[in-house]
Amino acid sequence: MRRVVVTGGAGFIGSALVRALLARGDRVVVIDNLMTGREDNLAEVADRIEWERDDIRDYEALVKAFRGAEVVFHLAAIPSVPRSIEEPALTHDVNVNGTFNVFRACLATGVRRVVYAASSSAYGDTEVLPKVETMLPRPLSPYAAQKLMGEYYARVFYLCYGLEAVSLRYFNVYGPRQDPTSPYSGVISIFLRALLERRSPTIYGDGEQSRDFTYVEDVVALTLKAADAPNVGGKVYNAGNGQRYTLNYVWGLLQRLEGVELPAQYAPARPGDVRHSQADITAAVRDLGHSPQFTLEEGLRRTLEWQRAQLRRG
Ligand code: UD1
Repeated sequence: MRRVVVTGGAGFIGSALVRALLARGDRVVVIDNLMTGREDNLAEVADRIEWERDDIRDYEALVKAFRGAEVVFHLAAIPSVPRSIEEPALTHDVNVNGTFNVFRACLATGVRRVVYAASSSAYGDTEVLPKVETMLPRPLSPYAAQKLMGEYYARVFYLCYGLEAVSLRYFNVYGPRQDPTSPYSGVISIFLRALLERRSPTIYGDGEQSRDFTYVEDVVALTLKAADAPNVGGKVYNAGNGQRYTLNYVWGLLQRLEGVELPAQYAPARPGDVRHSQADITAAVRDLGHSPQFTLEEGLRRTLEWQRAQLRRG
């Protein structure tokens, strides 16, 4: 049985990854300080995991937890572009220093591979679509810069020390367990909650900005593949669906799915906001065997049903 570690394993994406790892028979250690993760996300599997309530800013704790692990999935972070603008020092400490600690601890404990959750935000306002990994990054927010720094460290740890660190630039991941209640939540979770409560959502800007919304199970499948693919040390891959949809389109689709009419309200665009985002997934398909399975409509239906069940539970 192989021992693997998931930092941020109580988070929305991390907990989905933990369930997938357990399903294939791995022994899973979860590291999460519950700053943005929730214990509830792991309730179903709590008795099958090892749980360390550690903070990635604590290097010694990481070294202890990583001993004997073959792969580390590094997903712990404070996500959110607006939060990083409001709290640049805190988010830097976690996203940059914490990530540095994770790579250092991998090295100290002989971990074979680390898969790092990087972000599509690194592309910023690059004009060409879809975004290809060879483009020069142009981060627009502290969050984007912090996540990009992690990629650079992943590369450097591979080149200088031989740590097989691979970065996946996640593109606007959505799905069950994404928390809809925080102002920093992903837009789809916020839209779905508004829909179920029959409220109009707020769209920042004109709603014509677009995103490559990627269903969580597709990202999890790719993350698993990245742990085993050969010759990917130091490399960066887009982890997206390959499509893009505007916010106006998504809100229109959601209203149709529920058979309601709730025109959105519009507010000024958010600072640091990217205009368009879409992944070129050629490299991920070629090197990692990426094969997204979920259309936006299917992913939205599943997420909607999960949120509906959550609301019923109260
Ligand atoms: C960015 C990154 C993404 C990263 C995420 C972490 C890009 C392209 N994507 O997502 O890879 O994982 O940060 O948080 O940079 N919006 C509304 N109404 C709302 C909430 C949001 O209109 O109530 C708008 C935002 O202004 C934005 C879009 O929806 O234009 C998406 O926002 P959000 O879900 O927060 O993600 P990004 O900032 O795109």
